[in-house]
Amino acid sequence: MKLVHTIEDLQRNLAEARAKGEKIGLVPTMGALHEGHASLVRRCAEENEVTVVSVFLNPTQFNDKKDLEKYPRTLDADCRLLESVGADIVFAPSVEEMYPQPDNRKFSYPPVDSVMEGAFRPGHFNGVCQIVSKLFAAVAPDRAYFGEKDFQQIAVIRAMVEDLHIEVEIISCPVVREQSGLAMSSRNTLLTDGERAIAANIFGVLMKSKNFASGHTLNETRRYVIDSLNAVIGLEVQYFSIVDGETLQELEEWTDSDDIVGCITVFCGSQPIRLIDHIRYK
Ligand code: PAF
Repeated sequence: MKLVHTIEDLQRNLAEARAKGEKIGLVPTMGALHEGHASLVRRCAEENEVTVVSVFLNPTQFNDKKDLEKYPRTLDADCRLLESVGADIVFAPSVEEMYPQPDNRKFSYPPVDSVMEGAFRPGHFNGVCQIVSKLFAAVAPDRAYFGEKDFQQIAVIRAMVEDLHIEVEIISCPVVREQSGLAMSSRNTLLTDGERAIAANIFGVLMKSKNFASGHTLNETRRYVIDSLNAVIGLEVQYFSIVDGETLQELEEWTDSDDIVGCITVFCGSQPIRLIDHIRYK
């Protein structure tokens, strides 16, 4: 496995594979890797001759600078994990390498980027599009792998790829969960053991809401999830939206769509840590 820090080095290492017509897969990450990332890398390595993993804590997608400061940075451990799961190239550039000049590009794909995370984290998806478009330009991957935990992010990236006519196949991969049901996230390392146990209620309540939904209206189900989680000391729901899985438009009735997903963001603990998850109803 090679660790490279510049786009020039990255492209030099990819030139031979590209000339031979080998498939190149990319797993974009911000580091602090866990089993969820490992599953993306394993899948990428199975489906492509070359697996590139980018490790870059992208400042432009953090609307809250404190969130950026406390984000875990663990490049050495990340490299050990990546080597063990079949990555060929780790691309870990500096901020200056990715942003030699301020990136003033504006991406806008309403409603998918303006609802939910888009509404609560202004500028977040613009930053995601800035960095992901730069990574796609640097690597020119045949396939790129993203975790479904960031359900809305995948919809935004698909919209950007379509808009910019980028030739890459976006592959979304299932959420990987801890034994407790808590969706794996780099942010989980910021939780104490007690908070982690409390956070497991998020998926627990979402799962219970699937049964609840069969005898109740959509609005009653939404209320059930919000009230049940807010009743747990240490949790506070920021939003819970039940949306169409493709357009991400908020729904009123179960009959409004055949593809229904509940998306939630919850604050956990005293810091607090912001956790996201989702559940498919249909
Ligand atoms: O999902 C993430 O970790 C990030 O948003 C991504 C896609 C690597 C862009 O920085």
